Order: sequence, then structure tokens, then C-alpha cells
Amino acid sequence: MQKANKTIQKDCVRPLLKWYRTHARDLPWRRTHDPYAIWISEIMLQQTQVTTVIPYWERWMKEIPTIQALAEASEQTILKLWEGLGYYRRARMLHKAAKMTCDRYQGNFPQDHETILSLPGIGPYTAGAIASIAFDQPKPILDGNVIRVLTRYYSIKSNPKDRETQNQLWGLADHWVHQADLMRPRTAGNCSHLNQSIMELGATICLPGNLAQCNKCPLSKTCGANMTSQVANLPNLPKRRAVVQQQRFVYVLKYNDRYLMQQKGTDEHNEGLWEFYNTDSPVIMSPEEALQFCLETLQKKGIQVSTFSILTTIKHTITHHRITLHCFEGSLTEKPSSQLADGKWVTIKTLKAHPMPSAHQKLRSIILG
Ligand code: ADE
Repeated sequence: MQKANKTIQKDCVRPLLKWYRTHARDLPWRRTHDPYAIWISEIMLQQTQVTTVIPYWERWMKEIPTIQALAEASEQTILKLWEGLGYYRRARMLHKAAKMTCDRYQGNFPQDHETILSLPGIGPYTAGAIASIAFDQPKPILDGNVIRVLTRYYSIKSNPKDRETQNQLWGLADHWVHQADLMRPRTAGNCSHLNQSIMELGATICLPGNLAQCNKCPLSKTCGANMTSQVANLPNLPKRRAVVQQQRFVYVLKYNDRYLMQQKGTDEHNEGLWEFYNTDSPVIMSPEEALQFCLETLQKKGIQVSTFSILTTIKHTITHHRITLHCFEGSLTEKPSSQLADGKWVTIKTLKAHPMPSAHQKLRSIILG
């Protein structure tokens, strides 16, 4: 299956390195070799697009420029800097790994692949990315973009999520980056650039389905899928899970100049973030039905409101869940004592200092005008 080493160098590694020299996007984390900076970028880039990540990364590096600064930062500072990126566990794991690095390695980012891999929140992809990009080591990476390039190049028709195919793909990624390391003359950055060139090709040229621009691809002459007109059919990913509709109710409750907020607890989704008071919906309802239901719920809890109205409806998607948030605003006539336990009454002035998931940020923007 594997092409001879020299052939890989001639057909893949050399064209990719040459292409990358002129086509790599000028991304801020590509101007540094600092493993900390590269680590932050790689974690942010998981599940988030490059254009979204750039301002977040720049702000983060300004506010928390070193691993020591990260270890010493408060969790609320970190979540605030992450606010809007979603998947907040990523930020908490960064914090944990920074503390561990300071405790165990005097704040020096480990260079050894196994040690990098042992840090919290760092899996094989991220360990490979840091080892290759920051330290120019011949360590492979495999993400969605790389999977697309390799399955097409080798016309791999099995499901890339299968364990056997995963092993095969990791093996090919490993083979390519080793050939970059063995190129003579061995230019500094060969492994770093080879891995980034595959990702870059997947992100900009070897696009999903029929968006692929094979006429611009440096591998087109030897690409199996291109030669057999199978590009749009690969990779052969399993069908997406059926979409599940869900609804929740969000109560933006005001008493004097304060709003009722709740902080998500340990092991809850969005741990550490602040949300307006919200509950599950028992059935799918229209906004008007939901308004009535929520008003009755408040009455049953003995909470008196002088006004209660529809604020907005927010729709968002988390994996295969389509979530509709029916959002209401109400003014309380008296501060409830125990009915809405573990809530905090937050002043308008300090609302912005509380890290919130994006739906609740939208509500905050509406009420702050
Ligand atoms: N996606 C994941 N890692 C990336 C990187 N280093 N540059 C651009 N896109 C990426």
C-alpha cells in the first residue's frame, strides 16, 4: 500500500512544501515557535473556524502571554477570555495543564511527545501538532482536513472513523512526516510545514464534497480520487445522526437593578459559566404557549411578577441537538427568598464581567441595549 519513500518525497512531500511556501495563509500563530502559543491556537481551532479564532487568540496572548500567567490566572478570567468560543471544557483543561506544567516541569513546555500527550486536554492530534509545529519533530497529525486529503489521495473507501482505517490513516500521516524529516537537504521547519501544508490543503483546496478545487491542488497528478473521479465521494463518512429538537425556557428576571443568574456547577454542561435562570420544557410549545406555561410555573413557585413578556426566541445547535430557547423577561415585585435556590442577583453594572454561553450573551446584549 505504502509508496516507496523516494516516491512519497517526490510526489507528495516536495510539492506540498513548495505549495505551502507560497500559499500558506499568514496566520498569527504561524509567526511563532512558542509551544505555549501554538498549543493555545490548536485548542481554540478545535471546533472553531480560523477567522473566529484569530481575535480570540490575539486577545488571549496579550492577556495571558505565558504558561506561568495561565497557571496563575483565575478560572473566571479564563472563561471570560473564552466567552463565545463554546466548548468551555477546552479552556478549563488548558488551565489544568498549565498548572501541571508549572508544578512538574518548572513552567517549561515539555518537548517529548509522550509527555505532551500526558497533559490534560491533549490528545494525539494536539500532541502531534505541538511536537511538529513548535519543535519540528516528525510526529503525525490527523484531523478532519488531513483525513480528507489522505483518503482521497489513497482512494480509501472504508469509513475513516473505523479503528482499522484510523490506524491506517495515522500510519500514512506518520509516513509522510517522516519523509519530510528525511528530505535532503533537511531544511529547518520541514516537519512543521509538511503537517501544516496538509491541513492547509484540506482547509482551502481539498474541500468537502464537490467544493474541492482539484485544478489548484499540488497533489492532483498523483491523487487516486482525482484520477478516478471519486473526489466528491470521499471520505466515506457515516451518515449524520438524526437531529433532535429540544426546547428550554429562559427567565430573565429583574428585581430593582439586579438580574437573577445561576452559575453552572461541576460536571454540568458549561461548568463555571453564568446563565439566566432556565428550565427544561416538557413538550414542544409555541412562544405564546410557553409564556403561559412559564407564568403559571412562577405563580406555583409563589413568585409575583408585575410584568412578564416574550423577550426573544433563540435557536442554536449543539452536535445533533437543535435547541430553541423561549426567553421571557419579568419584573419581580419582591425578591424571592428560597424558591430559586443557588441563584445570584447580579447588578446590571457587573453583568458583563460574568462569563456566559453565547445564547445568554445575546440576552445580555438585548437587555443592556
Ligand atoms: N486547524 C488546526 N490547526 C490549524 C493550524 N495550525 N492552522 C490553520 N488551521 C488549523
